[in-house]
Amino acid sequence: MERLPHTNSVNKAIGANSVACKTLGTDASHDDSAHKKQDSMPKKQPYVSHQPDSHGHIHYSDDENGMWQALLERQAEQIPNRACPAYLDGLKKLNLPATRIPQLQDIDAVLQATTGWQTAAVPALISFGKFFKLLANKSFPVATFIRRFDDMDYIEEPDIFHEIVGHCPLLTHPAFATFNETYGKLGLNATKEERWFLARLYWFTIEFGLVGQNQSSRRIYGGGILSSPSETVYALNAGSEQQSEPQHQPQNQPEHRAFDLLDVLRTPYRIDHIQPIYYVIDDLDTLFDIVNSDIMGMVKQAMSLGLFEPSYALKNA
Ligand SMILES: [Fe+2]
Repeated sequence: MERLPHTNSVNKAIGANSVACKTLGTDASHDDSAHKKQDSMPKKQPYVSHQPDSHGHIHYSDDENGMWQALLERQAEQIPNRACPAYLDGLKKLNLPATRIPQLQDIDAVLQATTGWQTAAVPALISFGKFFKLLANKSFPVATFIRRFDDMDYIEEPDIFHEIVGHCPLLTHPAFATFNETYGKLGLNATKEERWFLARLYWFTIEFGLVGQNQSSRRIYGGGILSSPSETVYALNAGSEQQSEPQHQPQNQPEHRAFDLLDVLRTPYRIDHIQPIYYVIDDLDTLFDIVNSDIMGMVKQAMSLGLFEPSYALKNA
């Protein structure tokens, strides 16, 4: 399984920039229409990660550094009072440069000092196996390219802005870091089908998770949201409680559901769609509770029960 593209005609149409997927792909068992549509679209120049020099330094062009600056400035307007405090605290610790793409060694120095993690420079696409192995070894994969200006509002692949700004602040938090490590270890030993179920756990937590019981104080911890200005606003724009009937169109207001591991494992998602559902944990330490639960037992249960009806339109639906 490769790092799947984050194709998104719907997302693009509403201006969301959900560069969320790392390797996890979509629930293609339900709908792969987005990928097939892409086949008939003109091919864009693929993104290629930069290679570090002999000192581990990666050289970026002025345009690439300018892209970083523009993205960071734009996102900085959105995250106060929307990102969870631990994320903001981690962001402060990282002290990201405003006008250039950070070097991974500088990120690593902070991660090592806080949770013992580090980053790993990887190509734009990596295998599922490599992804799990890196996480299991407390290394967070970072593709060392940044989107072009014409992809500023939307990109298919997770770029360095998504990985650094979306995820690295919370890698300074023990619960978030431990969750990623455990997830990697479980994934390494999982079957191909089990990995698809595990992917939903990652999706609805690390990528698109919300935290906080009370709606008024609810915050974002998912990196797929926090690297997207428009989704950062949209995700907390909740009004609907859990709905009995699936919704087949993206909603102006997403649905917030209390985190339930079995439900999460059974909830289909698409990477090419604005998220209609977010799962909410009580606080970040809930991630410790999740990793201490029988996740693989729940995966097996979810596999026997099957998936919920998708809350998005199926191909030709
Ligand atoms: Fe991600």
